[in-house]
Amino acid sequence: MIMSSAEKKVILAISGSQRNPSLSDKMLDSFIAGMGQGYEVHKFYPHKMNIHSCTGCFHCWQKKYQGICMHQDEFKKILDVYKKADYIVFATPLYIFDFPATVKIVFDRLFIDLQPDQVEVPWGTEHPKRFPRDRKVVLISSCGFPDIEEFDIIKLHFDKICKGFGWEHAGNIFISAAGLFHSSKLLDKKFDLIKSAGEEISAGERISEAMQHQISTYVMPKEVYRRMTTASFSQKAL
Ligand SMILES: Cc1cc2nc3c(=O)[nH]c(=O)nc-3n(C[C@H](O)[C@H](O)[C@H](O)COP(=O)(O)O)c2cc1C
Repeated sequence: MIMSSAEKKVILAISGSQRNPSLSDKMLDSFIAGMGQGYEVHKFYPHKMNIHSCTGCFHCWQKKYQGICMHQDEFKKILDVYKKADYIVFATPLYIFDFPATVKIVFDRLFIDLQPDQVEVPWGTEHPKRFPRDRKVVLISSCGFPDIEEFDIIKLHFDKICKGFGWEHAGNIFISAAGLFHSSKLLDKKFDLIKSAGEEISAGERISEAMQHQISTYVMPKEVYRRMTTASFSQKAL
């Protein structure tokens, strides 16, 4: 979906929740709104598109097919934007501590950006890129437990992904206790803070540690949240 055009910097936004309304999708919209008007924004919902999972055939690495996937499907739309993107924002619900398949499929298909050569770098080994470009990347995620530590693994995983693809990791935006999204206005202030994080990125910076911390702070005692959420599913009175 193209939201505006002209000679503007390009944002590739990937939204991985299949729920509607979705907290992570709303976080994404707040962030992009905070970045302001001066961008060409392309937002994709991979699960609504015809995208095959990577079959690991290495077709794209064969000399005669270099950079061409055997699956000629709608991933091409994402790849075309990826090639010219200045910013990439991934918005995702946390599934079993990590990315759901709806987002993982995009990372796997971006394998096409990697060339076969293995090159030594200070942190190990990497592949040269087929579509090199300076890209700032932000991870947005929400989870159902109240603990911010739920994001430990996705954070580590995303750091590795950024290194592997040569992306500049410009910050994480995490909200835990997602059960509050539907039942209260307690998260409303968070969306304003997320807008401010978008402003920071737009000003050419990364998202400040202070902002990342403020966005992720708890809005109620964990024990109260646990009881409230448990009751909402069991439909028992509090
Ligand atoms: C399959 C599945 C796995 C989940 N795994 C976790 C998890 O590991 N930790 C957690 O705190 N919440 C987990 N959740 C809760 C979601 O992360 C939470 O509902 C999320 O905020 C939904 O975001 P959305 O509204 O954008 O879809 C899981 C939910 C589902 C359906």
